Order: sequence, then structure tokens, then C-alpha cells
Amino acid sequence: MHDVVPTDRGGLRAHGVGMEYVRRRTGQRVVALADLDLVISPGEFVSIVGPTGCGKTTFLNMVDGMVTPTRGTITWQDQSIESSGGQRAMVFQEASLFPWFTVERNVAYGLQCRGVPRAAAAERVAPLIRMVGLDGFEQNYPYELSGGMQQRANLARALAVEPDLLLMDEPFAALDAQTREIMQSELLRIWDLTKKTVLFVTHQIDEAVYLSDRVIVMSSRPGRVVADLPVPIPRPRALHVKREPGAIALVEQIWDLLEVDVRRAMAPDRAG
Ligand SMILES: Nc1ncnc2c1ncn2[C@@H]1O[C@H](COP(=O)(O)OP(=O)(O)OP(=O)(O)O)[C@@H](O)[C@H]1O
Ligand SMILES: [Mg+2]
Repeated sequence: MHDVVPTDRGGLRAHGVGMEYVRRRTGQRVVALADLDLVISPGEFVSIVGPTGCGKTTFLNMVDGMVTPTRGTITWQDQSIESSGGQRAMVFQEASLFPWFTVERNVAYGLQCRGVPRAAAAERVAPLIRMVGLDGFEQNYPYELSGGMQQRANLARALAVEPDLLLMDEPFAALDAQTREIMQSELLRIWDLTKKTVLFVTHQIDEAVYLSDRVIVMSSRPGRVVADLPVPIPRPRALHVKREPGAIALVEQIWDLLEVDVRRAMAPDRAG
């Protein structure tokens, strides 16, 4: 079991977090999360893997302040999520860009919502657009970009509001395998430059191992932490470390932990 011993301050702390949804139409109760404990230090890159429906998105939404846990507490920078001034930003599976805005205006959108005038916002996002490799595409519209480029713009948009915590929910799931690999190494490069705390949800175990300082493995619904595994691969990590024995052994270990639960989540009616 994951042992939560709060030692240092700050970061993200979830203690005994539970979530019970009541389905509106049927009144049926669904326990999505049960008793989840997690501590993430400032600047850490942590991934969560777990079977479908185990509550990963629910947990990210809680950390983002969109969903209130029915049990337990979550703090960010030593304050409850509701009162925390610390900025958080979410990056979703689908690049959720506004089709009627250019790349520049999409990336600047969060700043403009915070009252930064248009010209000043454009100036502030210029280095971010360069960082994600979209310079030259500032005035293009989303439909003119590939899926990978759209996801880069999405990442730049999340970074534009200068979040301390980046929440990423399967951000590369819609990309082809090669683009996905490039985006993974790009994300590490950007993380290294910006030193954000990252909480990353994925179904791809090798992606979790390649990116993270730690991989949290969750059980099937109701989700709880079944393992918390440090990734002892030195950084910076070139893409080929994914195919080295240390990474492969860790992927195998995580898959062994998940397999029974994944099969159960896929066939809930037949599970005991
Ligand atoms: N608003 C809601 N109302 C009722 N039930 C919900 C609601 N949101 C999620 N659930 C249920 O809670 C459980 C956890 O859902 P969640 O989306 O957090 O899972 P997940 O781990 O992100 O799954 P996936 O890997 O498929 O994205 C599921 O059984 C889901 O049906
Ligand atoms: Mg999800």
C-alpha cells in the first residue's frame, strides 16, 4: 500500500479521497474513487495508470477544482483546492482549440480572460509558441495544423497562464505512434525548461515510465493506489531509453500489476 508520510511542505497532497457519483437518471450510486492517498512534490513529474473507469479523470478534475470529493481532502501548496491561489491548468486528450481563433489567439486566450490586453497577450505568448515549435504558424487556424501541432498549441495555451501544476489527461492519445513519441520527448524538454509539477494520466505504460519520476498504479473501480513506483532512469532521457532493459522491466512490472484489473474492468458483469 502507498505510504503517505507528509514530510516536506507544498506540492499536492490527497488524503483519503473518495468520490461517489449519483447517476441522475437512475439514482444509482457509483463509487468512482475510494480512499486515495497521494503526495506529489513541487517540480515532480508523476503519471497515473489504471484500468478504464478507475477514476483517473475524476481525480484530475478534483485537483483542477471542477469536482468536489465526497470524502477526504486535497491540498495544493498547503491550501485546500478551493482556496488555493496556485494556478493549475488542464490539457485534455483532444486539442480543444477554438476553430475561429488563430494559434496566437488560442494560446493567448487564458491571458485575455484574465484581462491582459490583446497586444500585450500576443507579446507574452510569442516565446511559448517558439518553445513548442510553432513559430511561423502564429496566424494559422487550427484546421490548418496537424494533430500533433494542435496538441502543441494546446500545451502552449495551458502554459500561457503560468500554472504551477499541469494536469494532463491522456494528452497524446489521439496522435499516431511516431508523433506521440516526438511529443513525449518535447514535453520532457519543455518540463525541463519550465520546472512545472506535472500530473499525467495515460493508458500507455511505456509513456508513463519514459516521462515520469514516479508511476502511480491504480486498481479498477473504486480506484485506489496499488503501487507507487519510482523510475530510476537518469535524465535527460533520450527516446531510445524506452527500449532499454531497465525501462522494459518496469513496464512489465506495471503491466503485471494491472492485468487482472484491466480484464475485470473490461468485463464488469462477469467479474466476481
Ligand atoms: N458525472 C458523472 N456521473 C456519474 N458517474 C460518473 C460521472 N463521471 C464519471 N462517472 C463514473 O465514475 C467512474 C470513473 O470515471 P472516470 O472518468 O474518472 O474514469 P477514468 O479512470 O478516467 O476512465 P478512462 O480511463 O476510461 O478515461 C466511471 O465508472 C464513470 O462512469
Ligand atoms: Mg479518463
